[in-house]
Amino acid sequence: MTKVIAWPGTPLAAALARELGCECSELAVHRFPDGETLVRIDADVGGQDVVLVARLDRPEGKFLPLAFACDAARELGAGRVVLVAPYLPYMRQDTRFHPGEAVSSRTFARLVSSTADALVTVDPHLHRWQALSQLYSVPVRVAHAAPAIAQWVSRNVPSPLIVGPDAESEQWAAEIARLADAPHTVLEKTRRGDRDVAVRIGGDLPAGRFTPVIVDDIASTGRTLVAAAAALRAAGLPAPVAVAVHALLDDASLAAIRAGGVLAVVTCDTVEHATNAISILPALAQAVRAV
Ligand code: R5P
Repeated sequence: MTKVIAWPGTPLAAALARELGCECSELAVHRFPDGETLVRIDADVGGQDVVLVARLDRPEGKFLPLAFACDAARELGAGRVVLVAPYLPYMRQDTRFHPGEAVSSRTFARLVSSTADALVTVDPHLHRWQALSQLYSVPVRVAHAAPAIAQWVSRNVPSPLIVGPDAESEQWAAEIARLADAPHTVLEKTRRGDRDVAVRIGGDLPAGRFTPVIVDDIASTGRTLVAAAAALRAAGLPAPVAVAVHALLDDASLAAIRAGGVLAVVTCDTVEHATNAISILPALAQAVRAV
């Protein structure tokens, strides 16, 4: 038997529980006046596997409550504790870009591997790391958003041209293009700072009248999408649609993308956001069942 425990404010958890046909209980989290946190599991998890669905965007301050919850579940008699983190944070710091920097992805993986028995996530940012198994010592399953994104594109965008804004997006862009039976191209990005991004069109664009669909794994400041949209418009293409898997956008970033000549901004529901339009629930449930 399995029980889903939901991190507060994670609507995907209840939907996942329905999909898996099991009960869902929300984790109670109390913050003391001194800033310390107490978590409480209100469900009877004795003898059951626990699927802890946690929203780990804006992750600072979330790891300790997560570890408390995993330990509490086991102390209450749970079997395995499977962490479902639809967005896996810290993956972009996958090397020491400047002397003295921490490689946060490695440290976070070590901490999670020491507290959960398995991990399920959606399209982690794999760039310099090729697979999560290089980092995580517990069993890991990755659900992919490409099929759901390709289906959304096929249904909503006439004559799409799938555009990856940078080299690492080739992996998603190529797969979405294949599934949507559309051409694709990849642009060249240079990031000079958190909010300083330049994108150029490196090669030839396919001939024909296409609607560009920029696809990226993460939209955070939105600067990548804005710069990619500007490069496409400068090349004479119509206003693009922007699709991201993980919406880490605040209101100002979303406004900047919309002001940047993008036709529509659409995201998957790994992080609850006003732009969510593509459900990754079926793929996520399949990955949880597999683990
Ligand atoms: C980075 O390589 C990722 O794939 C995204 O392109 C990046 O995180 C987007 O960030 P921002 O929205 O801040 O440009």
